[in-house]
Amino acid sequence: MCGIVGYVGGKLASDIILDGLEKLEYRGYDSAGIAVQTENKIDIRKKVGRLQNLSESIQEKGIEGNLAIGHTRWATHGAPSDENSHPHYNSDMTIAVVHNGIIENYMELKKELLDKGYTFNSETDTEVIPKLLDLYEEEDFFKTIQKVLKMVRGSYALGILNVKYPDTIFCARKDSPLIVGKGEKENFIASDVPALLKYTNKVYYLENGELGIIKEDSVEFFDLDGNSVEKELHEIKWTMEQATKGGYSHFMLKEIFEQPKSIEDTLKRRISDKKEILFDDINLDIEKVKDIYIVACGTAYNAGLQGKFALQKIAKIKSDVDIASEFRYSDPFVDENSLVILVSQSGETLDTLAALRDSKAKGARTLAITNVIGSSIAREADDVIYTWAGPEIAVASTKAYTTQVTVFYMLALYFAKKKACIEEKEYNRILDNLLAVPKQVEQILAKDNEIMKMAEKMIDCQHGFFLGRGLDYSVAQEASLKMKEVSYMHTEAFASGELKHGTIALIEQDIPVLAITTQESLFEKSVSNIREVKARGAFVISITQEKNADLVKQVSDEVILIPDIDDLIAGITCVVPLQLMAYHVSTLRGLDVDKPRNLAKSVTVE
Ligand code: M6R
Repeated sequence: MCGIVGYVGGKLASDIILDGLEKLEYRGYDSAGIAVQTENKIDIRKKVGRLQNLSESIQEKGIEGNLAIGHTRWATHGAPSDENSHPHYNSDMTIAVVHNGIIENYMELKKELLDKGYTFNSETDTEVIPKLLDLYEEEDFFKTIQKVLKMVRGSYALGILNVKYPDTIFCARKDSPLIVGKGEKENFIASDVPALLKYTNKVYYLENGELGIIKEDSVEFFDLDGNSVEKELHEIKWTMEQATKGGYSHFMLKEIFEQPKSIEDTLKRRISDKKEILFDDINLDIEKVKDIYIVACGTAYNAGLQGKFALQKIAKIKSDVDIASEFRYSDPFVDENSLVILVSQSGETLDTLAALRDSKAKGARTLAITNVIGSSIAREADDVIYTWAGPEIAVASTKAYTTQVTVFYMLALYFAKKKACIEEKEYNRILDNLLAVPKQVEQILAKDNEIMKMAEKMIDCQHGFFLGRGLDYSVAQEASLKMKEVSYMHTEAFASGELKHGTIALIEQDIPVLAITTQESLFEKSVSNIREVKARGAFVISITQEKNADLVKQVSDEVILIPDIDDLIAGITCVVPLQLMAYHVSTLRGLDVDKPRNLAKSVTVE
């Protein structure tokens, strides 16, 4: 939520900030702003709406200067407006601040400032920071920052300018990500790697409670008491090409099409030529684990639903899936015999991070499945398995989901083998099916045109349903979320067998129903459920394996066939046409598919 960029060096800072903010727009796009150190003053420009508005303002009237901080906002405190946009500043505009996070005690701090005669220009929590820095400013401004940060509660990634320090960006982090990029005679701060990749692939990850003093030719790190901190410089392996659209019209489409490679990369990292699954770095005695809790949000939660199936069916371990924001408040029976698996593309989702911390405090072993190396969840969990999806920029998660599910299958096979609860033949059979997934996804992607034609039929639909039984139901949940978030069509996912307990009352003439039928053991029952909605006028699009084509065609208006694959693994492949379907409905409706309204990619508030 919210993106921060800062630059100090020899180049025109506003160009670099705008470029960096564009890469971070997925973190929020309610407004954007910039503060540039110019001669003897800080020049601040901010505009509500997309970054384009700020860019146009800077094109009309440029801002000279080689040091700047910028911000792209996802509104929490205060509606999107010019006033509520960052940077925020003190009354004589000598101090400017960009912030990602929430200052939880801002009301009491604001009252103290109001009592002292300060006035506020915005409704934001952030504005208390420049005002406090102003109130407590002392000779050494860095000491002032330390003092103020000890007064605030909540989460923050901060970039701070002070006109008296025209060569310096101050920065700090607590519970919101911040990295420092190291260049040649230029340095950067940013919320995430894509903002910097064009300029450097060398970064420091700020830890909670750390501050930085960033100048053109030096970067220094400290703790909140001002003690110097030594940090490791990391080299990022992602390429610029991965972080751009690379010829596709949208990031979402590019990321859907990247899935054969991202799934293959995720498999390759952990499966040897001898077909051994390599998770021995996970420091865990599986025999001691009595239950598994999978905790995540949104699409990562939906991946967890498939993970539960895999762990229970293959590894025979009792597993539950929880929404991170609910898990913490449900008094889960987590103890030292529990394994808690936190799933998060970004590795920064605050609810998931909080669930991780609670679980650790209860003595559980924690394992992160995440896509971002060095993210908070990756660093704080006892063990990490990375998905190798590469940067996922579109707000709608696609390749992260399929790689997360892939990891769950590898993990289930690995645990099953460790527990000696799977026969060699069965292990090899499931693994061979898993290894076939990248090729099969390629074949499904070749049906893109066919899927777009079906999407055309849904352009004007207000409502729709996704149906499935067993594993197919968990895919239906992900498909429904995808459709909702990018096309704004109201859809619901239902377990097909549950329909007649109420929901079937909603089925009316021509309402689209997308039915997933990949599970052989449930096939006949699923087909009966399709007949039930068809009989009530639904327009049925079915997704099934080729082997089921004949029967499914008889009960459906349209059928999307996926290649035959073991039913257990079908959940990874059959979601792909549904991702494409959501993409096409959105773009055919003329919506901004990469940046759907009201959303942000990385949700770092509770
Ligand atoms: O970064 P995370 O995986 O923790 O994010 C979790 C959700 O916010 C995310 O999956 C969200 O639901 C996506 N927009 C779905 O496409």
